[in-house]
Amino acid sequence: MQVQRVVLNSRPGKNGTPVPENFRLEDTTLSPDLKDGEVLLRTLYLSVDPYMRCRMNEDTGAEYLTPWQLSECVDGGGVGMVESSRCASFTKGDVVTSFNWPWQTHVVMEGSILQKVDPRLVDGHLSYFLGAVGITGLTALLGVREKGNVIKGGNQTMVVSGAAGACGSIAGQIGRLDGCVRVVGICGSSDKCRAIVEDLGFDAAINYRQEDVPTRLKESCPHGIDVYFDNVGGNISDSVITQMNNGGHVILCGQISQYNKDVPYPPPLSEEIQEILRSKNITRERFMVLNYMNKAETALSELSQWIKSGQIKVLETTVDGIENMGGAFCSMMKGGNTGKQIIKISE
Ligand SMILES: NC(=O)c1ccc[n+]([C@@H]2O[C@H](COP(=O)([O-])OP(=O)(O)OC[C@H]3O[C@@H](n4cnc5c(N)ncnc54)[C@H](OP(=O)(O)O)[C@@H]3O)[C@@H](O)[C@H]2O)c1
Repeated sequence: MQVQRVVLNSRPGKNGTPVPENFRLEDTTLSPDLKDGEVLLRTLYLSVDPYMRCRMNEDTGAEYLTPWQLSECVDGGGVGMVESSRCASFTKGDVVTSFNWPWQTHVVMEGSILQKVDPRLVDGHLSYFLGAVGITGLTALLGVREKGNVIKGGNQTMVVSGAAGACGSIAGQIGRLDGCVRVVGICGSSDKCRAIVEDLGFDAAINYRQEDVPTRLKESCPHGIDVYFDNVGGNISDSVITQMNNGGHVILCGQISQYNKDVPYPPPLSEEIQEILRSKNITRERFMVLNYMNKAETALSELSQWIKSGQIKVLETTVDGIENMGGAFCSMMKGGNTGKQIIKISE
C-alpha cells in the first residue's frame, strides 16, 4: 500500500523559529499484513501542538518528551479509523486516538497504545477528540479545577493569555461556568479579540500586538485579577501578575512566548515578579495535564455535555492535507490559528 508520511528534515536554526522546511513529505510503502496485536488505521485528523517545538530539539529539555529523530516519521496526537485488526479490542470502523500517531496517511499500530473513543461524545465531530474533547479541553478544565481555586459566588476576575487558542478559548469559558464574574482574554489579533468576546462570551479582550497591555488590563479588570490562566509567559504574564490581587492564583499551563529560546521550563521569573508573588501570597504552581489522567474520563464527559448543550463553543482552524503538516505547525506557533489547529488527512 502506498502512503505518505512526514519526517523531520532538519532542526530549527540559530534564531529558534521553526520553518516548514524543517519537515519533509515522503512516499513510502506499508504492508497491510498485520501481526498479532496490530491494527491498520486510516488517519482522519492530526494535531499540531506547542510542546512539539521541544521535540524538534536534540535535547527536549523535558524528561517526559523524546526528541524527534532526523529523517524519521514524526508523531503526535491523532484520530483515525480502524480498517482491519488483529487485536481483539478493535474491529473495522472503530474510531481510535493516540498521543503517538505517526504523521502518515495510513499506519499500522499496536492496539495496546490506542484508545477507542465514542463518536457520540462529539456528535460525530471527530476532530474534537484532539481538542475540546481531548487533551487541550482537559488541560483547560483540569487546569482551572486543580490550580485555579475558582469559587462560586467568589466575585473573581479571571484573565487568560493565549485566549483565542485551543486551551485558552476553553479555559475562559470554563472560568465563567465555574463562577468567575469577569473573564478577560489576551490574544494576538483584532479578529481573535472579536471572536472570544462575540462568539465565546468573554467580557473583554486585549490585543497584545496593538494595545498597551497594562493600561488595558486596568480598564478591563477594575477590581484586579484573582485567577490567571497563563499560556504564554514573558512580558504579558509579568503585566498580569503585577495587577493580581492578594491571594490570587496563577495556573501555570504553558509559556509559549519562550519556546523558541534555549531556556529551561518553566523559564525563570525576574526578582521583581517573584517578590510580587511572595508579598501578595499568589500561588503559581506548574500544571501538567498528564499528571491528572485519572480524572480524564469524567472530565471528558463533562466537556462533551457542555459542548452539546451549547454552553461551551468550540473554535477550530482546519488545514487540509498531510503535505501541509509542517506549515500548519509553524503557523500555529506564531498565531495563525484561532481555536484548535487541526489538519484533516482523510474523510
Ligand atoms: N500544562 C499542560 O499540560 C499543557 C497541555 C497542553 C498545552 N499546554 C500549553 O498551553 C499553551 C497553549 O497551547 P495550545 O495547544 O492551546 O496552543 P494554541 O494556544 O492553540 O496555539 C498557540 C498560540 O500561542 C500564541 N502565541 C505564540 N507566540 C506567542 C507569543 N510570543 N506571545 C504570546 N502568545 C503567543 C498564538 O496566539 P496569538 O495570536 O494570541 O499570539 C498561538 O495561536 C502552550 O503554552 C502549551 O505549551 C500545556
